[in-house]
Amino acid sequence: MGSTLQVMDSRAQQLIAPHGGTLINRVATPEQQQKYVESSSHLRRIRLSERSFSDLELIAVGGFSPLTGFMGSDDYHGVVETMRLKNGLVWSIPITLPVSAELADTLEIGETIGLEDADGTLVGILDLEEKYSYDKRREVEQVYRTSDEKHPGVRVIYEQGDVYLAGPVLLLERRPHPLFASRQLDPAQSRRAFAEKGWRTVVGFQTRNPIHRAHEYIQKCALEIVDGLFLHPLVGATKSDDVPADVRMHCYEVLIEKYYPLDRVILAINPAAMRYAGPREAIFHALLRKNYGCTHFIVGRDHAGVGDYYGTYDAQYIFYEFDPADLGITPLMFEHAFFCKRIGGMATTKTSPSGPEDRIHLSGTKVRAMLREGVQPPPEFTRPEVAEILIAAMRQPSG
Ligand code: ADX
Repeated sequence: MGSTLQVMDSRAQQLIAPHGGTLINRVATPEQQQKYVESSSHLRRIRLSERSFSDLELIAVGGFSPLTGFMGSDDYHGVVETMRLKNGLVWSIPITLPVSAELADTLEIGETIGLEDADGTLVGILDLEEKYSYDKRREVEQVYRTSDEKHPGVRVIYEQGDVYLAGPVLLLERRPHPLFASRQLDPAQSRRAFAEKGWRTVVGFQTRNPIHRAHEYIQKCALEIVDGLFLHPLVGATKSDDVPADVRMHCYEVLIEKYYPLDRVILAINPAAMRYAGPREAIFHALLRKNYGCTHFIVGRDHAGVGDYYGTYDAQYIFYEFDPADLGITPLMFEHAFFCKRIGGMATTKTSPSGPEDRIHLSGTKVRAMLREGVQPPPEFTRPEVAEILIAAMRQPSG
């Protein structure tokens, strides 16, 4: 018994350190929870958007380590201008709490503010340290590399309040996810799971789409060189035409059950909201997975991109702007993957001599049209089991 524990401990020590060195925990103790719930009638309260609620959760469970709250102006400007926090650590996306100027005017620095979810339930606490206005255009040009309001991430910034509230937060209670409780692993738990499996190296995979053969191929290429795969689909807010998270989760489960070695894969939800910020979000996604215990992170074509706002490999090039030691997690970069008829298997532009005529590649728009008509995309593009789930979901009356 003693020796087993020792082995476990030494394995746990081999795990990658969280960003900044400490895994943040801002989930209230039962005593804190009781105190705030009892005094809640005296607290002024703010209703969180879906995105801000995700941010609160991720700060609290350590997914956003070293952040302990919503960013103050020093961190915010550092991130927007230089992708660094005040303390010098790399960070690429502002984590901020926007409210209207009218609401901000009523709040006092030093005040404890109740944070409530969409249902009006008190879910968190903010110790208000600062409130500041900001330049939306500057933020979107720097973070999203465009000021076009048609960009779904930019639109959120334009439509949100004009003042950011900042300060440390507490999540009052870690509630099970309403849909995916069995797939909810917080960073401390995923780290423990990796250690228990004896994985020294783990590759994280971000996705907001059903897993097609190209995704599967790059995951498995990565798995050839590391011990485990952390399949970590994003289930926070996405744009309305992305496939809903419950449909995607069904696809992932069916896919791994049949086509993946189950002792090498952990499927868990990433509660984050999607920003569609391309290169900057790729860095952010990598740091998040570092906090979950991943040593490696997959960055393929147009990672976290939307429309034509980013070059196909911009989200890979941005990693070269940093000293690898400052990131800590190693990106595994993949070129555009497809089924190659000449080779008779999956390949990328790097490993196949084929021309476009040899490649089975379908655009997202084309795939959606096929699925809507009940037509299965070729098995070289999507596993039939996944196509079936997507076709069935499209048939359901929406809303
Ligand atoms: S994302 O917004 O979460 O990046 P998506 O779920 O489509 O979107 O992509 C998940 C990961 O797979 C990203 O790293 C992306 O770059 C990569 N990827 C998607 N399609 C391909 C492809 N055909 N070839 C190579 N990489 C791909």
